[in-house]
Amino acid sequence: MKKHTATNEQSGITLDFTHVMGKPEDGFLTTRDINAMEETIQKIHNVLLEKKANNTLGFYDLYTRNTMIDEVETMAKKLAPTCENLVVLGIGGSALGTIAVHRALNPWHYNLLPENSRKGPRLFIMDNIDPETLGSLLEFLNPEKTIINVISKSGSTAETMSQFLIARKWLMDNLGQTFNRHIVITTDPESGFLRKIAQMENFATLPIPADIGGRFSVFTPVGLFPLAMTGIDIRKLLAGCKAAAQTCTLPEVWKNPAYLSGIIHYIFEKKQGLKLWVMMPYSDSLKEISDWYTQLSAESLGKRFDIHGKEVFCGPTPIKALGATDQHSQLQLYMEGPRDKIFTFIEVETFRNNDITIPKAYEDIEGVEYLGGHTLGELLNTELRATRLALRTNKRPSITFRFPEINAWTIGQLIYILEVQVVFLGHLYQINPLDQPGVELGKQLTYGLMGRSGFEKSLKDVKQAESSALKQYVKTTLQ
Ligand code: PA5
Repeated sequence: MKKHTATNEQSGITLDFTHVMGKPEDGFLTTRDINAMEETIQKIHNVLLEKKANNTLGFYDLYTRNTMIDEVETMAKKLAPTCENLVVLGIGGSALGTIAVHRALNPWHYNLLPENSRKGPRLFIMDNIDPETLGSLLEFLNPEKTIINVISKSGSTAETMSQFLIARKWLMDNLGQTFNRHIVITTDPESGFLRKIAQMENFATLPIPADIGGRFSVFTPVGLFPLAMTGIDIRKLLAGCKAAAQTCTLPEVWKNPAYLSGIIHYIFEKKQGLKLWVMMPYSDSLKEISDWYTQLSAESLGKRFDIHGKEVFCGPTPIKALGATDQHSQLQLYMEGPRDKIFTFIEVETFRNNDITIPKAYEDIEGVEYLGGHTLGELLNTELRATRLALRTNKRPSITFRFPEINAWTIGQLIYILEVQVVFLGHLYQINPLDQPGVELGKQLTYGLMGRSGFEKSLKDVKQAESSALKQYVKTTLQ
């Protein structure tokens, strides 16, 4: 089998697409399939570069925004030394990127480490409104040594605002007038309720650049501030973006990992109906990268209308999996279930902190003995290799992003590549990857139900719909 790879830079991330290439009669691609898309790719490339130049795709050049980066570092340097706990309040794009990078780069049990072994405060990212979670956290923290970082681009998200109101009262009750020194607001530089509140209460603030939407904001103060607080080298993260930008802005599909991965997914979806896109890192540290990517892909590509206003119901379904764990959960389905999936594996060549060698024992029990002397990392990567090949044998294609090792530089690269990939896909599908109109209706109905003024009609609509649905249900079950 010929090996197909595209490396980002020497010792950077490699995109291995060996396992999508093969005989057309087995459902695999040939170079001709990809080259046939050349004209479309070039058109999209030109549009993307134009939008990049017009600052309508601001995420492309966040690594160049030195004033923003300096501001984050200054704030982190000021606050980290006296802070024992940093609590991030935010949801969706205001939380998932930070969780992903934190999990990837900080030690697995970061919050359990003694203070002198951590480079910064413990980090708690509250991206849900389950009362049991927030309630039990606040009970456990010392308010005097806690900073609450409220993150919302719009400055009005119900989940984040309610968390903020609870945390604010908790600080006020415990600290009195000085409570405002414990809150940092990350929001739009000018608009939104949070900006207004920050001014009224004299809270410290960090700006989310106006040209960046939630799910593309991990390299703005949204992610950079909490990450810098925990001692992550944000300059190295951004250097990773810069390295990825060098290849992700190249017109040639064979040299551009974002376009190549994007076009492979697109062709499989369009020509073979592979609508389920599984991301499966073989690394616990990268598990939340799939979580972040799921949101990026789902919210960006799941659209009812295309840019011409035609109803298209576009949207591959992203699926999160973890190797090797999900080999014992989802793999049976992936191997023998419907042939409707393409897989993105993420592989780590060298694990940090010394791989663990499996001790030799039970030398006369051959079903156990063979493990001794190998490392856990070796076993994990062997299982990935075996699974990928087994899937190929059953005609299920996969690509692999391969990390030489996980560090800030390589993580910056992967996130950047995936952001460009999603925007590129949005243009292939001719939908707007930057908006999310589908989440509005649910929000409005919630506002109505929660008694927000101006949303009385939404409340009426809910009541009407629920009562007619109920009547219908009763009628059908009684008949
Ligand atoms: O990607 C997006 O735009 C969303 O997922 C938002 O990040 C999420 O809804 C939170 O919005 P906000 O940051 O305005 O509170």
